[in-house]
Amino acid sequence: MRHDEVRPEDPFYPDELERMRILSDQKFEVNHAFEVVHDDEMVSWFRSAVTKPGAPGYDTNRYFLWCTFSVLAPYRRRGIARSHLPLLLELMDRDGCRTVTLESEEESGHAFLQWLGADKKSEGAENRLHIPDVDWPMMQRWIDEGAKGSPETKLEVYDDHIPDPMLEDFAPQLSALLNTMPWDDLDHGDIVETPEILRHEYERMDLAGLKHHTVLTREPNGVISGMTDITWAPHRPTMLVQLFTGVRPDARGRGIGKWIKAFMLDRVHRLYPDAEWISTGNADSNGPMLAINKRMGFKRHRWGAEYQITRDKLAERVEVLV
Ligand SMILES: CC(C)(COP(=O)(O)OP(=O)(O)OC[C@H]1O[C@@H](n2cnc3c(N)ncnc32)[C@H](O)[C@@H]1OP(=O)(O)O)[C@@H](O)C(=O)NCCC(=O)NCCS
Repeated sequence: MRHDEVRPEDPFYPDELERMRILSDQKFEVNHAFEVVHDDEMVSWFRSAVTKPGAPGYDTNRYFLWCTFSVLAPYRRRGIARSHLPLLLELMDRDGCRTVTLESEEESGHAFLQWLGADKKSEGAENRLHIPDVDWPMMQRWIDEGAKGSPETKLEVYDDHIPDPMLEDFAPQLSALLNTMPWDDLDHGDIVETPEILRHEYERMDLAGLKHHTVLTREPNGVISGMTDITWAPHRPTMLVQLFTGVRPDARGRGIGKWIKAFMLDRVHRLYPDAEWISTGNADSNGPMLAINKRMGFKRHRWGAEYQITRDKLAERVEVLV
């Protein structure tokens, strides 16, 4: 019902995949799920996640809890979401969390989070590219100019996950790239990728039937200067999802971002001729990424914001509101 309300035009995420996602082992996170049921109908759901003690990056991420909840439209404004707040506080205290992050892409969610007193910390959008409208000669120019502008740099393509023997080298370089993403005003821990985490992510992608493609650039000294990866899935054959694109700060300004994005687009267009769209998420403040995406033809599809509230402020609000 939420899908029909929020994304009726998008492919439906199959129950079987959702079932696998819920049941598959959460090796590095602790997840909680709660439901409010009325006459056998689930009218509200609540999900939360924290980093598992001992997981890589636990030392800086342990204070952050991520949470999302929603209420079916006919049941709104009756205090159901308000009733989740003591539970949220209890979960934060159980794990010693200091800050909760919540997000919304709906008017009702923004209104609720403002009422709660959470601070808006980052704004962003899902942007989409309509592949039939792509300017292919321009993409070819970006590919040619990229190679010409960095003659020593090698472009590598992986039409599956990154091979296992490469993970020791790849994981720390990926972490470095991921940590250059803008956080805006969000309080956060460090992103730590390890071979073990990547293997687990890849297993989960395989369970969902995802096909994974990576394009990266490598400097003569072995340093990965840029990368981009994308997925295709049988349940959304017309929609590719761009996961992450990053270029090291010391390699920016050489056209590597345009090179890898154009190369990837050209490649997935050949591999998946029926794919019509590429979807990607970008913070509004990410000027360089948005500039490239805009020139490729990406357009804003849906806008949202992330909010945070500290444990102590939430406790104060629960005193007054609940
Ligand atoms: C946000 C959401 C969970 C709120 O659920 P809810 O049960 O209707 O919220 P409550 O009834 O407990 O509302 C508590 C207060 O929030 C504010 N509020 C909630 N929805 C609002 C709206 N649409 N417009 C203005 N204020 C709103 C009001 O002050 C409300 O108190 P009041 O009704 O006494 O005036 C629900 O609208 C929803 O599912 N939205 C889509 C999902 C989403 O954006 N979730 C974001 C939170 S992670």
